[in-house]
Amino acid sequence: MTVIENSKLTVVGAGSVGSSTAYAALIRGSARHVALYDIATAKVEAEVLDLAHGTQFTGSSDIVGGSDISVVEGSHVVVITAGAKQNPGQTRIELAGVNAGILKTMLPQLLEAAPHAIYVIVTNPCDVLTVLAREDTGLPPERIFASGTVLDTSRLRWKLGERAGVSTSSVHAYIVGEHGDTEFPLWSKATIGTVPILEWETDGHPRMTPDELDAIAVDVRDAAYKVILGKGATNYAIGLSSARIVEAILRDEHAVMPVSTVLHDYHGIDGVALSVPSVVSASGAVPIRETPFSASELGLLRRSADAIREVAASLR
Ligand code: 2OP
Repeated sequence: MTVIENSKLTVVGAGSVGSSTAYAALIRGSARHVALYDIATAKVEAEVLDLAHGTQFTGSSDIVGGSDISVVEGSHVVVITAGAKQNPGQTRIELAGVNAGILKTMLPQLLEAAPHAIYVIVTNPCDVLTVLAREDTGLPPERIFASGTVLDTSRLRWKLGERAGVSTSSVHAYIVGEHGDTEFPLWSKATIGTVPILEWETDGHPRMTPDELDAIAVDVRDAAYKVILGKGATNYAIGLSSARIVEAILRDEHAVMPVSTVLHDYHGIDGVALSVPSVVSASGAVPIRETPFSASELGLLRRSADAIREVAASLR
């Protein structure tokens, strides 16, 4: 394992998602150096100060930042969170036009400052933006990908762990497809420990039914709407998810994560970014071709692909 020495993460966007990503990265020690960049000078400087004031209590990571693009220089990973956020009741896809414009303006400057970095797009709709950003930058798909359904997968594992009476880390299940309304769980291979999901039962935790699993999937799909309705944004869990992806890159972990890359000839899908289990390392993210899909899951993956393709095409 070749851990990157003196690793540098830059988070672009000092809103609640960007600041929470920097906070999670500092607390987890995801990178040796963490930088926060935003064009809103007062906001970014205040967030950096607030984060720096806590570094007595974090590990050995340090934090800098500001509104000068030089902040981004030397980054090994750039996490992009800048853009408009969802309002209550609004879908991620509805942000596509405005956030595609913001990303298009930012990317050339970011690439000039950090030409060798791996880019992780968190701004929504992250799959659509990844398709457009890959085309604009010409970067290979493994070097520019989205956080995708890493967060949704964590939401799913939390719910299943609670229901089954086991820790989240003992749930082996993935949400794949769009990070959005067409996402779905890969139930056909989901297990608790090594036990197929529908066969798991312990005292006080009876077997789950297919109907119950369907309800859990809907709950996970709609989870962000619920959080946004109550507090105006989601930030902590996406911050943690993003920090975890950064670690997998900077520590060259070869960790399997459902990030969203532009797929090439993946079960017949081409040119669309979707989350599927992928190997994440210092080289970036590579989808695992051998991931088994049932016939109905493949149908759902194609439905997700069509949804992303249609929105991306309308923005070119
Ligand atoms: C989330 O799923 C809104 O995409 C954001 O929390």
